[in-house]
Amino acid sequence: MNQKKFIYSILILCLMITVSLSIYFYNQSQQYQSNPQSLNTSEEDSPAYHFALIGEEMDHDYWRLVGEGAKDTEQNYDVFVEYKGPRRSNPEEQLKLLDIAIQSQVDGIIVQALNDDFLPMINKAVDQGIPVITVDTDAPNSARSTYIGTDNYAAGQLAGRTLVKDTDGQATVGIVTGSFSNAHHQLRVEGFRDIVEQEDGIEIVAIEESNITRVVAEEKAHKMLTDYPDITALYGTSALDGIGMVAAAESLEMDHLYMINFDTLEENIQLVQEDKIDVLIEQKPYEMGYRSIELMIDILENSSVQDVYHTEASVVRKNDLDQVQKAGDFP
Ligand code: BGC
Repeated sequence: MNQKKFIYSILILCLMITVSLSIYFYNQSQQYQSNPQSLNTSEEDSPAYHFALIGEEMDHDYWRLVGEGAKDTEQNYDVFVEYKGPRRSNPEEQLKLLDIAIQSQVDGIIVQALNDDFLPMINKAVDQGIPVITVDTDAPNSARSTYIGTDNYAAGQLAGRTLVKDTDGQATVGIVTGSFSNAHHQLRVEGFRDIVEQEDGIEIVAIEESNITRVVAEEKAHKMLTDYPDITALYGTSALDGIGMVAAAESLEMDHLYMINFDTLEENIQLVQEDKIDVLIEQKPYEMGYRSIELMIDILENSSVQDVYHTEASVVRKNDLDQVQKAGDFP
């Protein structure tokens, strides 16, 4: 009898422990679902601002630098930066991420505005009280608060002036551009055209888009050089175009071509060191990311901001490689 009682008591005790643990874990999971950030941080510990940064492509060295710059502000400001983007360039997916950020009611959104399709979504965020900053590519007709990034038209002109100078105004040019439909690439081509077309000795004979991949850049450059074997210079407007242009020229044994391309990514620097690319137009992706967060804090704390903040774009040749801005060089 006593033994029976003892077993019952043990069973009741086990039941009580099971029920208490279930209630505890249920409460914990409810708390986590309503606020995923609350897993490791108490209310008082969570940062003052939660921002979303949405870039063009996660698996890309240029965007890694923009993301790194933005994330590094977490060490100096009371912010949490959620950096997101499609794995491969995909404007529709980018727009979905923008919508998710709006639905999540983040405190501010920093986004690359690739084209006019981004306007309604940017305006939707602003209508809901979420300030938006455009980075790398602007949407000046949207309700965004400010833009931080390269003056893409002026950078195209800079590339044009450099090519005119380096070729003594004599060149047959092929252009590989990231995309025909993206605002910043259009501006980089437009600025370039406006300069070189003033020269009688320069003619642009072909233009192709690379979809910002090195593989397509190579394919298109190869086709261009085959169709127009008299091309003497290639201009690439996005970060990986130069790698494709060099590969195409090498496979056709056209090693005399003048090459000018955007961005001082490691692989491009290597090609300049090997004399395969003549000039890089340097942008400041790390600085864009870092300063975009500082500007968003200013906006939220009622400091006035300018309409546009242009980061520097400059010419980098083999002799200037030690001056290229790296992640740790800013601020
Ligand atoms: C552009 C970025 C682009 C990258 C792609 C850069 O020059 O500024 O917008 O995503 O190239 O290769």
